[in-house]
Amino acid sequence: MVDIERVFENNKKWIKSKLDLDPNYFKELAKGQNPELLYIGCADSRVTAEELMGCEPGEVFVHRNVANMVVSTDLNCQSVIEYAVQHLEVNHVIVCGHYGCGGVQAAMQSADLGLLNPWLRNIRDVYRTHASELNAITNEDKRYKRLVELNVQEQCINVIKTAVVQKAYRSRGIRVHGWVFDLETGKLIDLKIDFQSILDKIMEIYRLENN
Ligand code: CO
Repeated sequence: MVDIERVFENNKKWIKSKLDLDPNYFKELAKGQNPELLYIGCADSRVTAEELMGCEPGEVFVHRNVANMVVSTDLNCQSVIEYAVQHLEVNHVIVCGHYGCGGVQAAMQSADLGLLNPWLRNIRDVYRTHASELNAITNEDKRYKRLVELNVQEQCINVIKTAVVQKAYRSRGIRVHGWVFDLETGKLIDLKIDFQSILDKIMEIYRLENN
């Protein structure tokens, strides 16, 4: 069990470590934020956003939920995107999934998970969209890993579908990236999703901006 007292002791040590390097560290931090990145990742306790990217406070705007989903009716995630893209003017949006994702695994099983059912339904929809590719993978572990990757790709598409991202793409060329974190090696894998071609294909239907 985590000793809560230890958390506060750690906080004191952390403050000291920052002030030892720069006595004005917190004064500067309090002035405001100007992050370049918006990171949307899984709430999984093992997949830390800043730590795995080596980012310092102020460098990355973070949103985490079960299985790194970007759902159009989720006011929480949509507000994060709107705020980060329109007001903070981030230049990169990252959707980061991870192998070993319990949310994705749960969506592949036929179990009643209560409140999580409608949330995981979105992942089942990803499976349905890519069913022929996924069903052709006989190895269950490989199929599950592929679903993790395809889920990241679909959530990136959901990011691109938002009006604020389409606007920022036209005005300043904002980039959307799909990554997977491999828990077994600690590696961050860029799925190198070809967004330009995906964008061209989906714009016919999802275009929200006038030329
Ligand atoms: Co997860």
